[in-house]
Amino acid sequence: MTYYYITGTSSGIGLALTQQVLNLANTFVIGYARRKHIDHERYRHIYVDFSLTGAAREVDIPLYPDAQQVVLINNAGMLGDVKPIGEIDNELLEKTFMVNTVSPAILTNRFISIYQPVAELITVINISSGAARHAVESWGAYCASKAAIDMYSLVLHAEQNFLENPKVKVISLAPGVVDTPMQDLIRQVNPRYFPQAERFHQYKQKDLLTPAEKVAKKIVELVGNPPNDPIVDLRML
Ligand SMILES: NC(=O)c1ccc[n+]([C@@H]2O[C@H](COP(=O)([O-])OP(=O)(O)OC[C@H]3O[C@@H](n4cnc5c(N)ncnc54)[C@H](OP(=O)(O)O)[C@@H]3O)[C@@H](O)[C@H]2O)c1
Repeated sequence: MTYYYITGTSSGIGLALTQQVLNLANTFVIGYARRKHIDHERYRHIYVDFSLTGAAREVDIPLYPDAQQVVLINNAGMLGDVKPIGEIDNELLEKTFMVNTVSPAILTNRFISIYQPVAELITVINISSGAARHAVESWGAYCASKAAIDMYSLVLHAEQNFLENPKVKVISLAPGVVDTPMQDLIRQVNPRYFPQAERFHQYKQKDLLTPAEKVAKKIVELVGNPPNDPIVDLRML
């Protein structure tokens, strides 16, 4: 049995990914989000708000002693307040880093600690963003919080390279521009605060958004065949 722990299973990429993983034989999914939209005999939902201090430290990560391969997909994410630095709502700034950086970092730390003694293979996929790798005006919290998770993944990868018998594979993945509620939200931002707004409207109008199901399929393929370089842009695959 392969156990998948997926955050943000209630919407977009995480929802599509969970549905595809459950279509595979010998899989079980533990999903985390504030909403639950999946009912399946091999799905267990854990309600959590990762924006709250202590949530990632305290949330249940159930251990399955028969697990040979385990996969953690840190997918939950939020865009945050789209405003230039100097005008960002500070509470939302904090929440964005909690959801996009602090929670996945803590979950990864706990997950490896729990499963290193029992599992044969541990795969960690952090859903990053192209915005981690180039600056987008008014996305200060989003860009920086995703860039941090890229570096955390690089450090984990480097640590594993030191080991004689490395068990952990890590990927930090930019999924491209994906047709999810997060993109709906981006299109609702007041263009006064967001110079690149028109670009995102064009993606929708010209049908250039990638379906979440297509992204989910590629992520499932990557779990079975992780690349050597942990920093991945799905559009290049
Ligand atoms: N869509 C894109 O074009 C795009 C591009 C690059 C990167 N990404 C990244 O891809 C990932 C998935 O995004 P998406 O586009 O699928 O967005 P989405 O449809 O808005 O889904 C976001 C998911 O994250 C969960 N989440 C958000 N805040 C949470 C919180 N405080 N506690 C627990 N769960 C929370 C949501 O669950 P609840 O609301 O139920 O809690 C939801 O399941 C994100 O990390 C995003 O940054 C997306």
